[in-house]
Amino acid sequence: MTILHIDCSPRLASHSRWLSAAIVDKLVEAAPGAAVSRRDLGTAPLPHASPDYAVALSSPAAMRAAASAALDLSEQLIGEVEVADAIVIGTPMHNFTVPSVLKAWLDQLLRVGRTIMPTPEGKTGMLADRPVFIGIAAGGVFTGEGANQPDFLTPYLTAAFACVGLKSLQFLPLQATAFLEADEVAAARNRTLAALDLTGVA
Ligand SMILES: Cc1cc2nc3c(=O)[nH]c(=O)nc-3n(C[C@H](O)[C@H](O)[C@H](O)COP(=O)(O)O)c2cc1C
Repeated sequence: MTILHIDCSPRLASHSRWLSAAIVDKLVEAAPGAAVSRRDLGTAPLPHASPDYAVALSSPAAMRAAASAALDLSEQLIGEVEVADAIVIGTPMHNFTVPSVLKAWLDQLLRVGRTIMPTPEGKTGMLADRPVFIGIAAGGVFTGEGANQPDFLTPYLTAAFACVGLKSLQFLPLQATAFLEADEVAAARNRTLAALDLTGVA
């Protein structure tokens, strides 16, 4: 088994980093010998879509004519997903949605004609489905009765991943981190991790 482990927090002592690492540990426990590849978007952010990349994606003819250099980063990142049997993402909620470093990664992953097939019925994914575990840390609350803000993160990731074919998503939200006292952190993290469901995964 190959696991692609992605982190998005700019903080090193981060709740979402803890969650993603704990999920990877559980997967490796269930599938001993699993290989883990790493993409740390928080400490090594990707560039925003470059002019050459944006031009290459602007029409079918531009896509055919694109110099390979314009698509190299996208190809590399898609390749990392293609060889992974499972993907684990740790991400904070930033202003109700994904942090821009995760959006920059998605801008390279979602490519018409490469990972997305447009059809009259809508966009169809060209990647094989595989489990995607998403540990989310949010300072406030965005699910359930106590929600006090909109959630553009989980619906956005659901739609973005679905259009490349990744539909088996599991969200693990650790909420109200801004209100956690130091002695409450471990229990809150473990409560979130307890919801992890590895049925049929490893
Ligand atoms: C730029 C920025 C925007 C944020 N926006 C939100 C938000 O919209 N909703 C929320 O609940 N928390 C928000 N937070 C708080 C973080 O989600 C919270 O601190 C979380 O624990 C960060 O994840 P980490 O612990 O993995 O770094 C924001 C934090 C930053 C730095």
